[in-house]
Amino acid sequence: MNIVILAAGQGKRMNSALPKVLHPIAGKPMLSHVLEVARSLKPGKLCVVVGHGGEQVTAALAAPDLVWVKQEPQLGTGHAVLQALPHLDPMVTTLVLYGDVPLIAASTLRRLIGDAENALSILTVTLGDPYGYGRIVRSGGKVKRIVEEKDASIAEKKITEINTGILAAPTTSFQRWLPQLGKQNAQGEYYLTDIVALAVAEKMAVHSSHPGHESEVQGVNSKMQLAELERVYQHNVAASLLHHGVTLADPFRIDVRGELNCGRDVSIDINCLFEGQVCLEDGVSVGPHCVLRNVTVKRGARIEAFSHLQDALVGDHSVVGPYARLRPGAKLGKDVHIGNFVEVKNSNIADHTKANHLAYIGDADVGQRVNVGAGTITCNYDGANKHRTTIEDDVFIGSDTQLVAPVKVGRGATLGAGTTLTRDAPPDQLTVSRPKQLSIAGWKRPVKMK
Ligand code: UD1
Ligand code: CA
Repeated sequence: MNIVILAAGQGKRMNSALPKVLHPIAGKPMLSHVLEVARSLKPGKLCVVVGHGGEQVTAALAAPDLVWVKQEPQLGTGHAVLQALPHLDPMVTTLVLYGDVPLIAASTLRRLIGDAENALSILTVTLGDPYGYGRIVRSGGKVKRIVEEKDASIAEKKITEINTGILAAPTTSFQRWLPQLGKQNAQGEYYLTDIVALAVAEKMAVHSSHPGHESEVQGVNSKMQLAELERVYQHNVAASLLHHGVTLADPFRIDVRGELNCGRDVSIDINCLFEGQVCLEDGVSVGPHCVLRNVTVKRGARIEAFSHLQDALVGDHSVVGPYARLRPGAKLGKDVHIGNFVEVKNSNIADHTKANHLAYIGDADVGQRVNVGAGTITCNYDGANKHRTTIEDDVFIGSDTQLVAPVKVGRGATLGAGTTLTRDAPPDQLTVSRPKQLSIAGWKRPVKMK
């Protein structure tokens, strides 16, 4: 099969410098969604017709399996498919998709293609308000032609069955039909829809089928429609998570921009955002208002409210947050606690270690059962280079300690509160750097001068 995706339209009503098909649904260009469905059908040829601003689209989505065809000027949908024709395999069926109809489902398309053997197969839907769409004109139940809104008679405008634009037919038929198209119509364009009347004139069968759901064939012409389809997409994701046994506090308040894989008995509270590849293993719970981007959370771990995790790994039964931040390269072992206002970056934190309040752990290797006191900071950056801090097992770090890297704290060492550590701390000893405490008897506070 060949697939042709029409994406040359300007998208004026988006009021944006970005070409319409690059506007995102779930963080990914609309056209990427269409390409994903198209690729799932394993086409022999996958052709995208682009127009003005096409360089931007090509640059954003270039891939070895894509044939890019430039249509300039844009003289209509029939003219667009005609540009792709020389690149198609004439021996097979051609399916036409739209770059601005992003939620089309593979199952719908398989049915449509199944009907396209020696026939023209069109995807139609019946709408309460058919305004603006091409109408399906039937006689004796059989499809006869499609008439565009601007060319329709008053009677035809009352037809509620509309053309979604998506269709399939043998490529040889397109080769016969497309050069015959004229532009004697209200818009002076070469209408792809006119091939229906040509097929009927040839006595070729015209089959129609419907999408699984109306939202599959909704197009995007405005930011409003983009926002509506975003909600449809997100609700579909939520429904699928619920179906797989995930507990969602509110299926209308979760956003997934990427892939979220969940084990058994995972629960997700309200207003969480998942981006990239996120994996939540069995028994994981995510509190409200969390952002997780490319994160794996292992069995039984808890992410508490308002935490932000990116390119990080959380080990079994660990607890992160509330208000914690894991930055790229944060790797937590088992039963690790990262508490409020603790930031961890490019660091390995081994099992049973706790940093419960107000700390920065960057470029560090922290052993097992370490206690990181409140206000502890790894001074990993000297203004030019980053250096590592090593903290061995069973270390106790008192509050408000600065570890000036590169530095190492030996196994079992204790650092007194307020220490600024600039040299390695030996194992099993107390290291403290702090001016001796001084009390001055008889000292008087200054008084305000008159
Ligand atoms: C088209 C159909 C109409 C259908 C509607 C569904 C025609 C003549 N009409 O109308 O029956 O109900 O879609 O949304 O086909 N495009 C190009 N090159 C062009 C013109 C369009 O690539 O020269 C692309 C656009 O980027 C878009 C798609 O084709 O993805 C549809 O174009 P649009 O102008 O929106 O068609 P409509 O007039 O809405
Ligand atoms: Ca349209």
